[in-house]
Amino acid sequence: MTEHVTIDTADGVMTLTLQRPEKKNALTGAMYDALSDALKKAESDPSVRVIQFQGDGDSFTAGNDLGDFASQARGEGPVDSPAHGFIETLSKVGKPLVAAVQGNAVGIGTTMLLHCDLVYLADNARLLTPFVNLALVPEAGSSWLLPLRIGHARAYAMFALGEPMDASTALACGLANAVVQREELRKRAHDAAIALTKRPAGSLNLTKKLMRQHQQIAAQIAAEGQAFKERLGTPEAREAFSAFAERRLPDFTKVA
Ligand code: COA
Repeated sequence: MTEHVTIDTADGVMTLTLQRPEKKNALTGAMYDALSDALKKAESDPSVRVIQFQGDGDSFTAGNDLGDFASQARGEGPVDSPAHGFIETLSKVGKPLVAAVQGNAVGIGTTMLLHCDLVYLADNARLLTPFVNLALVPEAGSSWLLPLRIGHARAYAMFALGEPMDASTALACGLANAVVQREELRKRAHDAAIALTKRPAGSLNLTKKLMRQHQQIAAQIAAEGQAFKERLGTPEAREAFSAFAERRLPDFTKVA
């Protein structure tokens, strides 16, 4: 368990709150494990009908902790990546997933939204998938799911150039259900979650199953996971992580 994720269940909604605002809710291994455990419990607990994600502070999440990536690049850390475990678990959740997103949603902060069923954005939300900035590759099935949703050109610009997408564009592209003021964000998402708790759970479950191509998603996640692992050990990725730690721009021209 970790003090950086809280789990509250009430009125049929399990709310998972990222609570590491001083680090923009960057996700550590312990946080991924806490989220995975909570999702597994939610799936088997009949009193949970809907799961809601939210984050404290000014950012939904800055994505994977870059210190953890740097350790993995040095060959340290657990053999089974907690991030990969979270992605696999998340992609298989049958219960409805609702997200409330403010500020920056970086990396997995955006790609996890492709697995959520209802997404509410604060007007200051910024979706970022800067995998190539970090010399990595997309994850969580996003190399297939994102172009499917928003088209190749826009997805490529987000992945390869690290172009952020603002809330109104994300709404127009079909990545979100509504854009609301920051103060209204959690209530809007929670109201939607509560509405879902009153719907027939069996029907919701099958509807979601029919809407998602599980086999294709699982295959994409596996292929990305392999490529991601390989990329983490490259000199390019090490340069990207060092640059972040040293608060400078990476120089990829000097690495093979
Ligand atoms: N991993 C670890 N620490 C992170 C982090 C991450 N992904 N993102 C932010 N932090 C830390 C910063 O190092 C800083 O710590 P410090 O106060 O001890 O120096 C703190 O969070 C605040 O971040 P800062 O960069 O000063 O905030 P900002 O508002 O200027 O920028 C972001 C916010 C999210 C745009 C910026 O932090 C960022 O780009 N983070 C990296 C995102 C990323 O590449 N994630 C991986 C995606 S695969």
